[in-house]
Amino acid sequence: VFAHLVQAPEDPILGVTVAYNKDPSPIKLNLGVGAYRTEEGKPLVLNVVRKAEQQLINDKSRIKEYLPIVGLVEFNKLSAKLILGADSPAIRENRVTTVECLSGTGSLRVGGEFLAKHYHQKTIYITQPTWGNHPKIFTLAGLTVKTYRYYDPSTQGLNFQGLLEDLGAAPPGSIVLLHACAHNPTGVDPTIQQWEQIRKLMRSKGLMPFFDSAYQGFASGSLDTDAKPIRMFVADGGECLIAQSYAKNMGLYGERVGALSIVCKSAEVAVKVESQLKLVIRPMYSSPPIHGASIVAVILRDRNLFNEWTLELKAMADRIISMRKQLFEALRARGTPGDWSHIIKQIGMFTFTGLNPAQVSFMTKEYHIYMTSDGRISMAGLSSKTVPHLADSIHAAVTK
Ligand code: LMR
Repeated sequence: VFAHLVQAPEDPILGVTVAYNKDPSPIKLNLGVGAYRTEEGKPLVLNVVRKAEQQLINDKSRIKEYLPIVGLVEFNKLSAKLILGADSPAIRENRVTTVECLSGTGSLRVGGEFLAKHYHQKTIYITQPTWGNHPKIFTLAGLTVKTYRYYDPSTQGLNFQGLLEDLGAAPPGSIVLLHACAHNPTGVDPTIQQWEQIRKLMRSKGLMPFFDSAYQGFASGSLDTDAKPIRMFVADGGECLIAQSYAKNMGLYGERVGALSIVCKSAEVAVKVESQLKLVIRPMYSSPPIHGASIVAVILRDRNLFNEWTLELKAMADRIISMRKQLFEALRARGTPGDWSHIIKQIGMFTFTGLNPAQVSFMTKEYHIYMTSDGRISMAGLSSKTVPHLADSIHAAVTK
């Protein structure tokens, strides 16, 4: 009965890894998926994560019962504190409801379905361009997806005027997806002054902010700095949704651990919102997994482990920043045509190189360098050893 099916294409991001795995070349380099690698090109399990796991193993009272539908309650509380700040009035006033979800994607999906069911506006505006999964998540959640201008290819920076015009023209109440920091795929973020203008505009039109926070601590190396735009929106007393992921900042990719927080106007509303979130989650996956959330809870509740985590996080962020400098210098040293300063101006895991699909496929074919066809490279996958190879391939691609 399935014989009529057509072969579906691979995912534009995860499919890059599939192609990479098939390549027998010893010089191959995977700069597709946003996953951190060490200087040796190896995946990294943080020391604090190993310690937390050891604690969990040593605790013989731990059981494997189902978690409640909302997940691990302590994890939820700690996650809200991490993203909103320990002194957040919204937390103090019990106006925040947080549920554990399956990483950032799951949090976006649960939030999207909740909005599709209970929010009066069904249109969500996402940045042009954005992470390839965003439009699919929200469409399947039952929302209508539209885009707002964000990236300006001519400056390789923010199209702030276009952004303000498009959000200004959005129907009142529309949902707006905002990348909390380290915009994926462009690495271009608004300044704090621009965030303030965005906030004012959105609040004046009653637009509903839905933050995707996949990189807290990864952009600047500071958890508080990277959460600032979200905290500005929460400080004005208005509502918002926040999807948090621990994939990158704790390196818990495969544990699929994240959280959805909804900041409400009152404690009464927050309780009702949580009850409705449970109705979204139960038929979707019943309840979330226990292991990843337990690791996060152990780290966030313990001052020493928390401090150790911030140091490891900063080290990852710093290594990525140093890769930016090295790649920029390597292209300058080769006299590669073009202004490559965006490599050091953009932040977070990715550089949006400006390379076109033909150049990308040339680099894959001739240099065995794998990246998404939009020219995004994961700086976290690069090392001092591989920078020259990448620079050679970019140089060859743009001078060919
Ligand atoms: C990415 O953009 O590479 C990451 O967020 C991983 C993913 O799931 O796409």
